[in-house]
Amino acid sequence: MALRVEPSGGACGARVTGVDLKQPLDAETVAALRAAWLEHHVLAFPDQGLDDDGLERFTRYFGAFGDDPFFAPIPGRRNIAAIRREADEQSPLFAENWHADWSFQARPPAGTCLNAVEIPPHGGDTLFANQHLAWEALPPDRQAIYADLIAVHSARLPYAPDGTYGARDKGRSMDIRPSEAALATQTHPLVPAHPETGRRGFYSTLGYIIGIEGMAPDQAVALLMELQQWQGGERFVFAQKWEPAMLVMWDNRSVLHRATGGYEGYRRELHRTTIAAWDGA
Ligand code: SIN
Repeated sequence: MALRVEPSGGACGARVTGVDLKQPLDAETVAALRAAWLEHHVLAFPDQGLDDDGLERFTRYFGAFGDDPFFAPIPGRRNIAAIRREADEQSPLFAENWHADWSFQARPPAGTCLNAVEIPPHGGDTLFANQHLAWEALPPDRQAIYADLIAVHSARLPYAPDGTYGARDKGRSMDIRPSEAALATQTHPLVPAHPETGRRGFYSTLGYIIGIEGMAPDQAVALLMELQQWQGGERFVFAQKWEPAMLVMWDNRSVLHRATGGYEGYRRELHRTTIAAWDGA
């Protein structure tokens, strides 16, 4: 089987065929997949039907497992969480706002893998916004506003006890564990160079970003709100349609992502792992 990488034709994303992820991968194939991942930022592998062992094995080709706070893992696994919504669930959609996974950590995950378990017949696309394009499309005078800013990140808005997924969140089937640990803050450059490619792009967005170092809170939030509109602009966005048996991996250092609905009356479940920060190896 020859590896085939077909770009989506959109702002990011490629469909990868000619590889059986149920079998061990050789170093050459892993290197080719990593190169494709860095180029296209989101890779979709159709017709794989991986089980949880396969998902863990695939994840480890790209690094160590990330540290996943605020979720209980699925029974019997330390590094897999279930992104789940029951057919009759009424709680607000999980992860409906743009974000880069766990950007509030000191060493946030390089990537995320999401493996289809149960896919509704329509809806439930995952949207990805290419943050290299969002940065590069800005005119120089607007780049100058953001270029050297340091963003303050925190998990408090979603995961603190009084946050979106805290005590007032009722009827959710996902096993989310809010905690005071969500109140911690962490800084990162707003427009870092990608550690592997050197290409600059916006990292994360309002939500996990709660302020800008050295800027008054009101001014920072106004600036971040305006920036978020830009970051999620239509021309930077690719909609990943899910298929049963599909695995998708993305680069949190290059894209934002968010969940969408449109599958009321159907169950949706995906198993998720994160790939730890790149160690330079
Ligand atoms: C996530 O942000 O991890 C979930 C995305 C999705 O459910 O499509």
